[in-house]
Amino acid sequence: MKALVLAGGRGTRLRPLTHTVPKQLVPVANKPVLLYGLEAIRDVGITDVGVVVGDHGPAIRDALGNGGTLGLDITYLHQHAPLGLAHCVMLSQDYLGNADFLLYLGDNVIIDGLGPLLDAFWHSRPDAMVMTGKVANPSEYGVAQVGPDGVVTGLEEKPADPRSDLALVGAYVFTPAIHQAVHSVKPSWRNEREITHAIEWLMRNGWRVEAHLHGGYWKDTGRVEDLLECNRAVLDTAERSIRGQVDASCEIRGPVVIEDGAEVSGSRITGPAVIGFSAVVRDSRIGPYTSIGTDCDIVGATIENSVVCEGSTVRGSLRDSLIGRQARVNGDFGRPTCLVLGDHSEARLYGSAS
Ligand code: DAU
Repeated sequence: MKALVLAGGRGTRLRPLTHTVPKQLVPVANKPVLLYGLEAIRDVGITDVGVVVGDHGPAIRDALGNGGTLGLDITYLHQHAPLGLAHCVMLSQDYLGNADFLLYLGDNVIIDGLGPLLDAFWHSRPDAMVMTGKVANPSEYGVAQVGPDGVVTGLEEKPADPRSDLALVGAYVFTPAIHQAVHSVKPSWRNEREITHAIEWLMRNGWRVEAHLHGGYWKDTGRVEDLLECNRAVLDTAERSIRGQVDASCEIRGPVVIEDGAEVSGSRITGPAVIGFSAVVRDSRIGPYTSIGTDCDIVGATIENSVVCEGSTVRGSLRDSLIGRQARVNGDFGRPTCLVLGDHSEARLYGSAS
């Protein structure tokens, strides 16, 4: 079986970061989101992976190469414009051939879910299987209505008035029947060919679509608050590991990862937290739930519940923040500030926050 991983799209909900970096490469616990999906795919024994890329294709190719270091054989498929998930399947038809395949949305982190999904698919061999997860805010997702036998009886994409709390999670298993379906649906109001509509088409035309309820953790990381929540969830699984240098004046509490080459002095790090390769942290309070990227330079700072990407400099107090690469934060409002900064941005904070 092959997998098709979707890593195009605009990433509008993660701007300004996504002006310069694809949302699938934004790090969670210092690892790009896309790697969580690719590793999960490898771990269920799939090696042939088609990765659909758009304008940010070169950055994704730089990050993944031919997939060899991940144990994968990656083929890139170019999408000239983000015309929808079903459009991605259309343009990949030659690559996928006449076989079953796994579709994976590259901005989703799904922990321990793919094995059970594939087992369920092979057990009952429906014409398509969707993964569902219970959510509090179904209007922001595709939503499924599912009968007691697991058969999907209704599907809607981001309904204003959802009929269930079962969201479509970003992993699906398809038989070749989907190829006829994706050609049959028209673009939606947002000018996208929706995979949800293609699956509905299958249902209307007598094909059997089943749902597999994922009981574990998953997150669509498409928005800042979701990315930070995912960062917290992944950090919660971290085990203490101190490989960098920590001087005697530091206090390191709980599950803290300090990577090779990092230098931490005069600071308190409260886990869960990760300090990246060659980062410098001096006279600072970091954590909990904070990821500091490779080569960051953090001095006299307080940072909590935040992601700071590689090469950034922070001198100030942050919380609930997402700081892009090579960005600079200087100064302080006298209390922690929430910032979302794109790559190479600079924020100068001074005076008191009102
Ligand atoms: O995360 C789960 C949700 O994903 C489902 O509940 C929805 O039913 C499904 O439509 C999808 O909704 P989103 O609006 O969140 O999809 P998004 O535009 O974020 O795209 C998902 C992935 O596919 C992401 O990695 C970007 C990529 N993509 C997206 C489009 C529209 C492409 O590669 N090409 C595209 O044309």
